[in-house]
Amino acid sequence: MNPDPIAAPIIEVDALTKSVPVATISGTASLSILHDLGFRIMPGETVAVVGSSGSGKSTLLSLLAGLDTPSTGSVRLAGESLYALDEDGRAALRGRLVGFVFQSFQLMPHLNALENVMLPLELAGRADAESVARATLKRVGLAERERHYPKHLSGGEQQRVAVARAFAPQPKILFADEPTGNLDTVTGATIIELLFELNREFGTTLVLVTHDPEIAARCTRTIRIASGRIESDSGNPASQSSAAKPPAPAA
Ligand SMILES: Nc1ncnc2c1ncn2[C@@H]1O[C@H](COP(=O)(O)OP(=O)(O)OP(=O)(O)O)[C@@H](O)[C@H]1O
Ligand SMILES: [Mg+2]
Repeated sequence: MNPDPIAAPIIEVDALTKSVPVATISGTASLSILHDLGFRIMPGETVAVVGSSGSGKSTLLSLLAGLDTPSTGSVRLAGESLYALDEDGRAALRGRLVGFVFQSFQLMPHLNALENVMLPLELAGRADAESVARATLKRVGLAERERHYPKHLSGGEQQRVAVARAFAPQPKILFADEPTGNLDTVTGATIIELLFELNREFGTTLVLVTHDPEIAARCTRTIRIASGRIESDSGNPASQSSAAKPPAPAA
């Protein structure tokens, strides 16, 4: 789905910085992971976040989803300032708007596949949690695995449960951190199809971290991170941080 040019941004990032204390021989020092990031994402955009290992992609995604706290700056989701809210307020906003597929699947080990997918629906107070979770598991090809616990599912199956869990509540924004990183090509392609179907059917904004140029090429926009800075942004070249180099001209 192409973004609606007159809609308000669904994600607004301003002067976002993340530093962490690290131990040194002489005490502690501050390590800058993200430097002064700023950009806007419109509803319905599909955005690939790319960059080398350690460049700050997962840190950025966690901050966009309200799973971490920035050192400075702000993130607004659908106009609401995530970090002006307390933990509970942030959790509520996340529950209302956001789905997240992690680099590691992060399924609840003591819940079976069906219960894992039901969890966010139940937290949202949905009376139809079980039927929606069943239908979503069927959609990812796991109807026969509903009662399996994560340890009895293959890596690809676990990732499909994680995707089902993220998209069952039909979030407005879906963040995915290398959703196919641990999967074979065919299973990975199925997962990617599911994510793009969600975008087409419901206008879900997709922000996905990937090392795969083919997946990035399917997105309407690519943000490239290098050493915690935006090196290039195909959707909005003007949104680069001041210290970043301009993007290379198109060949
Ligand atoms: N809590 C932390 N304390 C110290 N350093 C951290 C912390 N979190 C992240 N880092 C460092 O910040 C940098 C960025 O990490 P991040 O996980 O965001 O990278 P990434 O771009 O997602 O890499 P990959 O492609 O390997 O997943 C790394 O050098 C990492 O070691
Ligand atoms: Mg990462």
